[in-house]
Amino acid sequence: MSVILLNHIDEVKSNIKEWKKDNLKVGLVPTMGALHAGHASLIKKAKAMCDKVVVSVFVNPVQFGPNEDYDKYPRTIEKDKQLCEEIGADIVFAPSAKEMYGENVNLSNTELTYVCPPYNYIDCLCGKSRPGHFDGVATVVTKLFNIVQPDFAFFGQKDAQQLFIIKKMVKDLNMNLEIIPCPIVRESDGLAMSSRNSYLSIEERKSALSISKALFEVEKLYNKGITDSNILFDTAVSVLDKKLELDYLEFRDFNTFEKVDKISKNTLTAIAVKIGKTRLIDNIILG
Ligand code: PAF
Repeated sequence: MSVILLNHIDEVKSNIKEWKKDNLKVGLVPTMGALHAGHASLIKKAKAMCDKVVVSVFVNPVQFGPNEDYDKYPRTIEKDKQLCEEIGADIVFAPSAKEMYGENVNLSNTELTYVCPPYNYIDCLCGKSRPGHFDGVATVVTKLFNIVQPDFAFFGQKDAQQLFIIKKMVKDLNMNLEIIPCPIVRESDGLAMSSRNSYLSIEERKSALSISKALFEVEKLYNKGITDSNILFDTAVSVLDKKLELDYLEFRDFNTFEKVDKISKNTLTAIAVKIGKTRLIDNIILG
């Protein structure tokens, strides 16, 4: 069966209603489109675990700050649909901003009910330089969960803070689904796949390669027994291309998200940098 492209919430809901009558397991892969091999791995995992797969493609305005890349974020719906078709997804849900939020969509919209994750987990890492971002993410993900009613939802580990916040939200709000984390997919030279990689010039792409190199160096030293976060921090920074502007490089417990000084198994080493106007993130879980 071919994948169907739906733009309206009601259409999605009525398909889901039919599937639920037949007790079919539904998987949701929330995306902002410009799909790449990283997304493909999520959709394949969903396909393997579920009877029906919905891929949402929605560039969510309320998770972008006023000076961020909402307008220029790549929109490639025909290609996205094609990829979903090849993998065997059932529905591509691509609503407009108006369909999702009505008129006047922005983070300062005082008419909208937001889902706000706890301050502790958003006032750090990406949340620190992107105020309001995770409120926007938690809100749209909740809306998608309510529309699609999935049994499983699939998220990439590249957005480690997002994954942590969503898992916590599902637990705290007793949402009736399971979050399935999926490993980072990298280009053959190590660069983590991201829709934002398409912004990079050839020179910037070369500099960006030092992000994963820095993480792999941390991993190498950790595997040799070095656990002091200061040493690992300095080493990583020395590997980073000087053209990159470091936003953060932090070591956190992957399960609690607390900062750690001594690195151990399950330490998340997370990094964000700016290359020109492009902001990229990556991470590695040690051990
Ligand atoms: O990770 C993303 O692509 C987005 O933050 C998400 C989860 C689809 C919400 O807009």
